[in-house]
Amino acid sequence: MAFVVTDNCIQCKYTDCVEVCPVDCFYEGPNFLVIHPDECIDCALCEPECPANAIYSEDELPDSMQHFFELNEMLAEHWPNLAERKDPLPDAEKWDGVENKLDKLEGLPEDL
Ligand code: SF4
Ligand code: F3S
Repeated sequence: MAFVVTDNCIQCKYTDCVEVCPVDCFYEGPNFLVIHPDECIDCALCEPECPANAIYSEDELPDSMQHFFELNEMLAEHWPNLAERKDPLPDAEKWDGVENKLDKLEGLPEDL
Protein backbone atom coordinates (compact mmCIF):
# COMPACT_ATOMS: atom_id res chain seq x y z
CA MET A 1 0.00 0.00 0.00
CA ALA A 2 1.12 3.55 -0.69
CA PHE A 3 -0.04 7.12 -0.80
CA VAL A 4 -0.63 8.76 -4.17
CA VAL A 5 -0.33 12.36 -5.40
CA THR A 6 -3.22 13.37 -7.66
CA ASP A 7 -4.44 16.03 -10.06
CA ASN A 8 -4.67 19.05 -7.79
CA CYS A 9 -0.92 19.07 -7.15
CA ILE A 10 -0.34 19.92 -10.84
CA GLN A 11 0.63 23.59 -11.32
CA CYS A 12 0.63 24.12 -7.50
CA LYS A 13 3.44 21.92 -6.09
CA TYR A 14 3.28 23.35 -2.59
CA THR A 15 5.85 20.79 -1.31
CA ASP A 16 4.69 20.89 2.33
CA CYS A 17 4.36 17.12 1.92
CA VAL A 18 8.07 16.42 1.51
CA GLU A 19 8.98 17.99 4.81
CA VAL A 20 7.18 15.35 6.85
CA CYS A 21 8.04 12.23 4.88
CA PRO A 22 10.30 10.02 7.03
CA VAL A 23 11.64 8.05 4.06
CA ASP A 24 12.05 10.85 1.48
CA CYS A 25 10.04 9.08 -1.19
CA PHE A 26 8.85 12.15 -3.12
CA TYR A 27 10.11 12.80 -6.66
CA GLU A 28 9.86 16.14 -8.43
CA GLY A 29 8.88 17.09 -11.94
CA PRO A 30 8.50 20.61 -13.36
CA ASN A 31 4.94 21.12 -12.08
CA PHE A 32 3.98 17.99 -10.11
CA LEU A 33 5.33 15.76 -7.37
CA VAL A 34 4.90 12.00 -7.10
CA ILE A 35 5.36 9.35 -4.42
CA HIS A 36 7.36 6.20 -5.15
CA PRO A 37 4.92 3.44 -4.17
CA ASP A 38 7.67 0.93 -3.38
CA GLU A 39 9.35 3.34 -0.96
CA CYS A 40 6.29 4.79 0.79
CA ILE A 41 5.82 3.21 4.22
CA ASP A 42 2.17 4.23 4.43
CA CYS A 43 2.65 6.44 7.48
CA ALA A 44 -0.06 8.92 6.38
CA LEU A 45 1.87 11.96 7.63
CA CYS A 46 1.88 13.74 4.27
CA GLU A 47 -1.84 13.57 3.50
CA PRO A 48 -3.02 16.29 5.93
CA GLU A 49 -0.04 18.54 5.10
CA CYS A 50 -1.03 19.16 1.47
CA PRO A 51 -2.83 22.54 1.16
CA ALA A 52 -4.30 21.33 -2.13
CA ASN A 53 -5.67 18.08 -0.66
CA ALA A 54 -3.98 16.24 -3.49
CA ILE A 55 -2.70 13.20 -1.55
CA TYR A 56 -4.77 10.05 -1.07
CA SER A 57 -4.17 6.66 0.38
CA GLU A 58 -4.11 4.08 -2.40
CA ASP A 59 -7.19 2.38 -0.96
CA GLU A 60 -9.12 5.67 -0.83
CA LEU A 61 -8.27 6.87 -4.33
CA PRO A 62 -11.48 8.02 -6.03
CA ASP A 63 -12.38 6.00 -9.14
CA SER A 64 -11.77 9.06 -11.29
CA MET A 65 -8.16 9.20 -10.08
CA GLN A 66 -7.11 5.55 -10.29
CA HIS A 67 -4.75 6.33 -13.17
CA PHE A 68 -2.66 8.48 -10.81
CA PHE A 69 -1.32 5.38 -9.06
CA GLU A 70 0.47 4.20 -12.20
CA LEU A 71 1.49 7.75 -13.01
CA ASN A 72 3.18 8.12 -9.59
CA GLU A 73 4.88 4.74 -10.03
CA MET A 74 6.17 5.56 -13.52
CA LEU A 75 7.28 9.16 -12.93
CA ALA A 76 9.05 8.31 -9.65
CA GLU A 77 11.44 6.22 -11.74
CA HIS A 78 12.27 9.18 -13.97
CA TRP A 79 12.27 12.25 -11.75
CA PRO A 80 14.84 13.34 -9.12
CA ASN A 81 14.20 12.97 -5.42
CA LEU A 82 13.00 15.99 -3.44
CA ALA A 83 13.57 15.93 0.32
CA GLU A 84 13.18 19.58 1.31
CA ARG A 85 10.35 22.03 1.04
CA LYS A 86 10.68 24.78 -1.55
CA ASP A 87 8.52 27.67 -2.74
CA PRO A 88 5.25 26.68 -4.44
CA LEU A 89 4.87 27.43 -8.14
CA PRO A 90 4.16 31.15 -8.70
CA ASP A 91 0.52 30.66 -9.77
CA ALA A 92 -0.25 27.95 -7.19
CA GLU A 93 -3.19 29.81 -5.68
CA LYS A 94 -4.73 30.42 -9.07
CA TRP A 95 -4.52 26.74 -10.05
CA ASP A 96 -5.54 25.29 -6.69
CA GLY A 97 -8.96 23.70 -7.19
CA VAL A 98 -9.00 23.80 -10.99
CA GLU A 99 -10.14 20.36 -12.13
CA ASN A 100 -8.49 18.03 -14.64
CA LYS A 101 -5.06 19.59 -14.90
CA LEU A 102 -3.47 16.45 -16.32
CA ASP A 103 -3.08 18.03 -19.76
CA LYS A 104 -0.82 20.63 -18.10
CA LEU A 105 1.55 17.98 -16.73
CA GLU A 106 5.15 18.61 -17.76
CA GLY A 107 8.22 16.37 -17.61
CA LEU A 108 6.72 13.20 -19.06
CA PRO A 109 9.46 10.74 -20.08
CA GLU A 110 9.09 11.50 -23.79
CA ASP A 111 9.89 15.16 -22.97
CA LEU A 112 12.97 14.33 -20.88
FE1 SF4 B 1 6.06 9.59 2.89
FE2 SF4 B 1 4.41 8.63 4.76
FE3 SF4 B 1 3.45 10.13 2.77
FE4 SF4 B 1 4.32 7.66 2.26
S1 SF4 B 1 2.55 8.21 3.54
S2 SF4 B 1 4.76 9.49 1.05
S3 SF4 B 1 6.02 7.49 3.71
S4 SF4 B 1 4.86 10.79 4.38
FE1 F3S C 1 1.75 18.67 -4.33
FE2 F3S C 1 0.45 18.96 -2.11
FE3 F3S C 1 2.88 18.10 -2.01
S1 F3S C 1 0.38 20.31 -3.85
S2 F3S C 1 3.84 19.08 -3.74
S3 F3S C 1 1.18 17.06 -2.96
S4 F3S C 1 1.95 19.53 -0.59
